[in-house]
Parts: sequence; C-alpha cells; structure tokens
Amino acid sequence: MNMNNPTVFPDDFTWGAATASYQIEGAWNEDGKGESIWDRFSHTPGRIEAGDTGDIACDHYHRWRADVSLMKEIGLKAYRFSISWPRILPEGRGRVNPSGLDFYDQLVDSLLEADIEPFVTLYHWDLPQALEDQGGWVKRPVVDAFVEYADIVSRALGDRVKRWITLNEPFVSAFAGYLDGIHAPGHTDLYEALAASHHLLLAHGRTVPIIRHNSPASQVGITLNLQPQIPASPSEADREAAQYADGNLNRWFLDPLSGRGYPEDMVRAYGQAPDFTQAGDMDLIAAQLDFLGVNYYARGIFRSNKIDEARNAPRTTFRNDEITDMGWEVYPEGLFEMLVRLHSEYDFPAIHITENGAAYPDRIGPDGKVYDPERISYLERHLNMVLQAITTGVRVRGYFAWSLLDNFEWSYGYSKRFGLIHVNYQTGERIPKASAEWYRKVIKDNGVVQKAGPGLERGI
Ligand code: FCB
Repeated sequence: MNMNNPTVFPDDFTWGAATASYQIEGAWNEDGKGESIWDRFSHTPGRIEAGDTGDIACDHYHRWRADVSLMKEIGLKAYRFSISWPRILPEGRGRVNPSGLDFYDQLVDSLLEADIEPFVTLYHWDLPQALEDQGGWVKRPVVDAFVEYADIVSRALGDRVKRWITLNEPFVSAFAGYLDGIHAPGHTDLYEALAASHHLLLAHGRTVPIIRHNSPASQVGITLNLQPQIPASPSEADREAAQYADGNLNRWFLDPLSGRGYPEDMVRAYGQAPDFTQAGDMDLIAAQLDFLGVNYYARGIFRSNKIDEARNAPRTTFRNDEITDMGWEVYPEGLFEMLVRLHSEYDFPAIHITENGAAYPDRIGPDGKVYDPERISYLERHLNMVLQAITTGVRVRGYFAWSLLDNFEWSYGYSKRFGLIHVNYQTGERIPKASAEWYRKVIKDNGVVQKAGPGLERGI
C-alpha cells in the first residue's frame, strides 16, 4: 500500500457481508427449533410494523445453497452470520437439537468449499424464549446457559470456524430490549437494562477462553455498535447530554472490555447500585480479545432537555440533510473519527467493521434490475474512511457490508431494505442490486474504490 496516496487496501484485507439468523432464516418452528424471544415478540400484535414476522423471512433456511452461490458470485472473502440459539437448544439449555447443528455444519462446509471464511456470531438477539421465561438477560443464570451453548457450538464447528464473535451489539440487546421496549422482550426498566448489559458482558467474557480451547488458532471478538456522540452546541448542558450518550452507548461497553471497569460518571448518572456485579466479574469481562467488531451507521447529535430551548445556546452542529430510509444521517467521517478514537484511547489488537450499510427504498426497474446508486455512494464514502483510518495506523482488518440480503429489519419489519441483493418476499426471488456488482469490483481490485459514476448508476 502506498501510504502517501492510498488507493488500495492491505493484501490480506477481509471483504465480507453480514446477516443475522432471525432476520433471514425463517423456518421459525421447523426441524425441532424452539421459540425465540423474537418469535414471541413478532407474534405479539402491535410490536412490528405492518404485523410482519420472521416466520419465513428470506427463507434462507431452505435457500442457503443458492445464497452461498450468490456470495461466491460477488466474490466475498468472508461471510458473517449468526447462529440461532433455540435452533441448537430448543429450551435454551440441556437437550441439543441435532438438525440445528447440522444446518450450520453444512453451511460452514459449503462456505469453505466456496473459499468464503465463516465469521460466526453466537448471539444476534434471538434468545430462547424458555430462558426469557426465567428472567432472560436480567437474571444471572442466563450467563451459564450462554456458556453451555457457546461450548456446544464451538465444539461442533470449531475445527473449521476460526473467527468468532460472541455477541452482536449488547447495547441494543440490553437497552432496546429492556429499557426502550422496542425490541424483544419489550420491557421498559433501567435496572433491567443495566443488569442485562452486565450479564451480556459477563457471558461474553466467560465464553472467550472456552471458544479458544474448543477452536484452536481461532480469533475471538465481540461486536459493538459505536458512534461519535456530538453536542448540538458548546453549551454545558449539551456537552453533558452528549457525554451521557457517549457513556451509555460507547464507554459502558468499551471500558469494561478494556479492563477499566464501568465508567464512574455513568454509574453515578444511572443512580443504580450495581448489585448484579459480583467479585471477579470485571476480570472475566476483560478477557483478552483478538479483535473488536465495530458496527457503524451514523453519528448522534445531542440537545439537552434539561434547560429549555430559549435559554440554551444556539445550535451549532446540525444533522446533514442527506439521510437514509431509516432517517439516519449519512456521516461517513464519523466512522473515521470513531476508529481513530479506538486507536488512541483503547488498544484492541485488531478491528473489523462487522456492519456498515444503508437502507433505501429500492425498486425493481422495468428492465428487471435494481439500481441503488445511493447505497453505492454510501458504501464508497465509508470505505474511503476505512482506508484513511488504515493509513493513519488504525489496525482495521476487515469490512462487512450490512447486509447480504434485504431482510427483516426488527421492529420495522420488511419495510427497510439494506441488502446488496433484493429479495422478493412473496416469491423468495433474489436479484443482486447494482451495489452487489459494484462491491464485486471493489473486492476484485482489493478496494480500489470506484466513483459511483453514471455508468454504475445505469448498472454496468
Ligand atoms: C444493527 C443490527 C443489524 C441491522 C442493522 C441495520 O444494529 O445489528 O441486525 O438491523 O442494525
């Protein structure tokens, strides 16, 4: 790589795309799978837009061979997917469902045959409902259950899977699920969210050495959703609001993983006695990682609600007008800022961007193709930031586009399309979008990021 004029990524850079079990698999009650909290949540009227569920989703459970072929056509070097815990352990603990393990076993073999490296996420939010019935992530026994589950999966796949991600976005599991109530299991209690976040981190930490033992020479990491949290003005109140948001989203997870314990300011701000923490927990949570997974979509801008607008300082930081179909600001610089911060304030041996992407209301054109120039532009600009970060010395080793396929976007149901590949939910038909073709070229040229010019817009 030419450091003065970087146009290409390091030779061994990992190019991938990501998905998650509940969002794509479907087959929610087939071949012995147990119920997950997302099955229960999506079957509860009023929880998901348009009453959508993941019952069928992209039907990946039946179409996975064709999906691996599509990955191969794009030239993916790696594929990040998650394992459905209740497919392996229908009651959460105890009895193993052999067909569940078989499914992932075959998927892993077929990925390796196609020269695609599997990156396995053990937990992407679909907790077995049986465990939620016993208190879910709020109660400490779930930690033992996760350790048993991780042990079973890493023993079964660990000879072939060499990249493991324990958890996806524990912030979202804990706070969207137990405080905001917008994700399964839909609770709204700060104490529960904090206890859940602790048990998630502990489950992660206790699992790291087990995976290393069962899967020798593998690399183990955790994926966090991180973003710069910026004050809307330099006023004291806005700075405090942004500091709180940063502590809540970023530091509450980064600090304990780095052996610093929970940030003091947040323990004070939450005003909760962390009685769920026991002696020795923080050391376990700080288990040495091989990499940090970073999911990045946008930044946050915070305006204090402690003082009224008239008395606060005028806003000086505004959201860009360019937003995605999620209403999220397009702010590629935030990815660079976050990566540089991780490099200077923390010390993870390596970083993978485990998710980055954008939803747009893609439609099939009269010629049967799907042109998505906004997505190409979004990905291109974020990749340029990754490249700049690498040039600055940040150890970014891989990038995974979210998502391989259009899929079930949690509480938004099927209304948001993030895929490189368009999915017709009536027929299951897949159509690679122009962005898939663009990404194929990027991978082929090892990241010579092409401008989203008129040619690409027309889909050549
Ligand atoms: C992330 C999730 C992923 C997907 C994207 C858009 O928070 O990890 O499953 O929903 O957002």
